[in-house]
Amino acid sequence: MPARTTDAGEPDLSGLGSGGCGLVLGVESSCDETGVALVRAEAGSRPALLAHSLHTQIDLHRAYGGVVPELASRDHIRRVVPLVRQVLTEAGCGLSDIAVVAYTAGPGLAGALLVGAAVAQGLALALQRPVLPVHHLEGHLLSPFLSSADPPEFPFVGLLVSGGHTQLMRVERVGSYELLGESIDDAAGEAFDKCAMLLGLGYPGGAALSELASHGKDDAYAFPRPLLNDPRLDFSFAGLKTSVATQVRKLAAQQPQGQLTGQLRADIAASAQAAIVEVLVRKSILALESAGLDRLVVAGGVGANGALRKRLRQACAARSARLHFPEPQWCTDNGAMIALAAAMRLQAGIGELQPAGAFEVRPRWVLG
Ligand code: KG4
Ligand code: ZN
Repeated sequence: MPARTTDAGEPDLSGLGSGGCGLVLGVESSCDETGVALVRAEAGSRPALLAHSLHTQIDLHRAYGGVVPELASRDHIRRVVPLVRQVLTEAGCGLSDIAVVAYTAGPGLAGALLVGAAVAQGLALALQRPVLPVHHLEGHLLSPFLSSADPPEFPFVGLLVSGGHTQLMRVERVGSYELLGESIDDAAGEAFDKCAMLLGLGYPGGAALSELASHGKDDAYAFPRPLLNDPRLDFSFAGLKTSVATQVRKLAAQQPQGQLTGQLRADIAASAQAAIVEVLVRKSILALESAGLDRLVVAGGVGANGALRKRLRQACAARSARLHFPEPQWCTDNGAMIALAAAMRLQAGIGELQPAGAFEVRPRWVLG
């Protein structure tokens, strides 16, 4: 596709931003995953994912027990260009086929965001294409639309459960997000990670804790469920790790070797998971009721949790509400959700295309 330019030599943005726009490249680099994807957005049809690729830095950060921002930035620099090449090859496209370059502009780690932003801007500048900065949480919220089997319909309540955020949102349509409630301290994913760390499961521990929990009794220990009966839609998970830490110390002191047995660890994992899941389910149902909606969409890394999926399925079935999850591969960070969010904004006529060149990232950025 030839570059579109105005008489003044600037990228011509007319014709883009309403309906179809061609191929959207999406770049995600807000934390510890480098993701790139290519989506085709034609007028009158749902955006189609052509190719995507992902590099996770989990192995890089594991030794430190959490994400080291400087290491994250440096690794994004190494990965992003090869991933762009890989996606173009997989889709059978060339650089000049790209119509819009979308990238995660925030929230996230400043240095990590700057890598994706700089690459996206540089690419767009060279190709004389516009850029589209995307909100990372909007990417997560819209990620269930990547499913061809059972995509959601608007409006819905979105439960966003990631490593950094726990939020309930009323989503009226693309671009219309109303915050109904959020965590006042730790996010749900953070609570999973901290409990996992206390059980020696390493970082990030959500999936490992979930696996260990499948061998334990979820009512073995009564861990706190803060704000469970509070009519507000806010969450608080910080007390859970303290309670789990106290229990781990107490039980370890009773063991001959000072070490927890496998069954004790599994029971703690199952009980901690049950506490997080019960609060998330109760508040999600409360949010549906208070918003007067009957459709719940779950997104973010914790959305991959099997116990959460099971309990939400039961709770939604009991009140005839529809429930949608992204496929597990789209729960954690990826480039596909960023390209998709950009494509959906463009199709809705609200994509804020910008000429490449001047850019800023927004490490703290409130959605809606
Ligand atoms: O959405 P995400 O990839 O990153 C952020 O934007 O924060 O979410 C990562 C979080 C981590 O806290 C991780 O432990 C958690 O999602 N997670 C899980 C599971 N898989 C990932 N938590 C519970 N159960 C899982 N199966
Ligand atoms: Zn995320």
